[in-house]
Amino acid sequence: VSLKPYNTFGIDVVAKQYAEFNDLRELEMLLPLVDKSNILPLGGGSNVLFTNNTYNGTVLKNNIKGIQVVNETEDHFYIKAGSGEVWHRFVMHCIQHDYAGIENLALIPGCVGASPMQNIGAYGVEIKDVFHSLEAYHINDNVLVSFGLDDCDFGYRESVFKRKLKNQFIISSVTFKLSKTPQFKTEYGAIRQELDKMGIHELSIKAISDAVINIRSSKLPDPAKIGNAGSFFKNPVVSIAHYETLKAVYPEIPGYDIIENGMLTGKKLAAGWLIEKAGWKGFRQNDAGVHQLQALVLVNYANAKGAEILELSAKIIDDIYSKFQVRLEREVNIIA
Ligand code: FAD
Ligand code: EPU
Repeated sequence: VSLKPYNTFGIDVVAKQYAEFNDLRELEMLLPLVDKSNILPLGGGSNVLFTNNTYNGTVLKNNIKGIQVVNETEDHFYIKAGSGEVWHRFVMHCIQHDYAGIENLALIPGCVGASPMQNIGAYGVEIKDVFHSLEAYHINDNVLVSFGLDDCDFGYRESVFKRKLKNQFIISSVTFKLSKTPQFKTEYGAIRQELDKMGIHELSIKAISDAVINIRSSKLPDPAKIGNAGSFFKNPVVSIAHYETLKAVYPEIPGYDIIENGMLTGKKLAAGWLIEKAGWKGFRQNDAGVHQLQALVLVNYANAKGAEILELSAKIIDDIYSKFQVRLEREVNIIA
């Protein structure tokens, strides 16, 4: 099976085995039939880069659906969503029902089940802020395991599922703790500007999601038109001393405070700014390139191989290191 329709980079890679499951029972029936040592659960395929012409394992496409309120307190709704629900549709559902907390995360591609993998985040919110628990199926032990907030070890674009428990679980549902009284997060500058531009003076979760949708549509490439997987790299964190050295040379360099236990411990730089400053924005070699409006996004104009995108990313990493002594880390999951 060609995975081209199943990854937003649009890489034409053939999977040795491919199957879909619609519920836990179907997953349980499938697992004994496949090579368990090499399974790739797939949601929307919006955060993966396949780097070979074949994927020598089993791709299991997840279609587990369903959204339900599982608990309600004076201040919160607990909403459980099947891991195969499309993330943006889930956000829209919550906005329609006045469940507040994920409006800033509108229009992120992919499925609910991948949202805890890298603790998706945008415009000042991460899912760890609204996460209650998840259920995941242990591939080798054939049991369903519950994970609370502390079990997931969430960090910036990180979780236990990307590290210690990598490739061991298939997430089947996620439960979010959403608020009855919204707390609007508009500190991310562009949101306020966009709300002004839209002429909105009374905040609502709908208004915020509309603003986020407008901002995102204006600079992030639509995978339906140009292959990509969003930010290819993480924004790097450097020491204060390193930041000051860079700032002396580039006074305009963006830097965000990293505060731990009330103390300033480092600065987060904008990888997109570094890549643009190094001259890569709009770069293109064959069909692999750096997006013209957002240098943090690598793109496939049509028929690039995964290996070409990977090679381009390696050149960027080397160049950014030689120019700024900052080592960029990939954010996208590289699947060999
Ligand atoms: P996939 O790409 O299908 O999978 C990603 C990884 O998770 C893979 O390793 C896969 O094996 C694993 N996985 C998927 N589902 C499961 C499951 N049920 N159980 C276990 N493992 C699983 N991300 C952000 O955080 N913030 C953004 O603002 C953002 N913007 C983006 C914009 C664009 C245009 C694009 C293309 C991507 C963007 N992303 C962003 C990245 C991406 O949307 C998120 O990482 C999203 O959560 C990926 O979901 P998915 O279902 O497509 O995951
Ligand atoms: N910038 C440039 N040139 C560029 C791109 C950015 O100078 O080509 C500068 C901007 O001017 C701004 C700064 O870099 O000063 C930050 O840019 P932006 O607000 O666009 O956000 P980002 O750091 O590039 C991050 C996330 C996005 C998320 C946005 C909004 C990471 C790796 N990326 O991007 O997440 O949507 O903030 O919160 O943290 C993703 O993970 O796939 C993703 C798109």
